Amino acid sequence: MRLNKFIAQSGIASRRKADELTINGNVKVNGRVMKELGYDVLPDDTVEVNGRVISADEKKVYIALNKPKGFVTTMSDDKDRLTVADLVSDIPERIFPVGRLDYNTTGLLIMTNDGDLANKLSHPKHHVEKTYRAKVSGVLSGKRMAALRKGVDIGGFVTSPAKVTIVKQTEKSAIATITIHEGKNRQVRKMFKAVGCPVQELTRIAIGDIQLARLKEGTYRKLTRQEIDYLKNL
Ligand code: URA
Repeated sequence: MRLNKFIAQSGIASRRKADELTINGNVKVNGRVMKELGYDVLPDDTVEVNGRVISADEKKVYIALNKPKGFVTTMSDDKDRLTVADLVSDIPERIFPVGRLDYNTTGLLIMTNDGDLANKLSHPKHHVEKTYRAKVSGVLSGKRMAALRKGVDIGGFVTSPAKVTIVKQTEKSAIATITIHEGKNRQVRKMFKAVGCPVQELTRIAIGDIQLARLKEGTYRKLTRQEIDYLKNL
């Protein structure tokens, strides 16, 4: 089995992250640093990541977290900010976030130690839909809604058609839900800004059929067997 797949299956990291660890010299095979990305792990090989021996069959864990504002979606932070790792510190397996949410975005974040599933969900070719609830400034006029639905230029990239619904419109602000399947950096914020309605608050409420529902901010729940199967079969 290829080295990055072996590391991903052990639950340490996604395949891409495994390659990074390998290039950076954090991976040893039979006691020697292994930097060859294409290395084929043999049945009797001992593989270590950061000094810890790993095997390709750690118990798989899948959770849905409601990320609060003011947390980064990484497992450690060089600027000492709070991270989502602080919210799942009672889980012994080495889980990591699937994709990311901005520092000030709240809502649904899937975390797992299943590197293969993480890889799959993060890959743009799988077109997994993500739904957000946005509070925005201004009026979401018919023209603005039409632009969002058609696709807007967010600086060198024109977004695919989005599903957008107004939940509430007041004099100065609106609440809308928006579903997109791309994952450009700060995409939803950039889309609303592009039509003149900057985002004030943003919450991810669904990933595909997985719903945030009533999960309290800062807490997590285990995904159900059905939800896990659904994600694997996407
Ligand atoms: N779009 C954004 O602008 N921010 C997020 O956190 C997620 C999607």
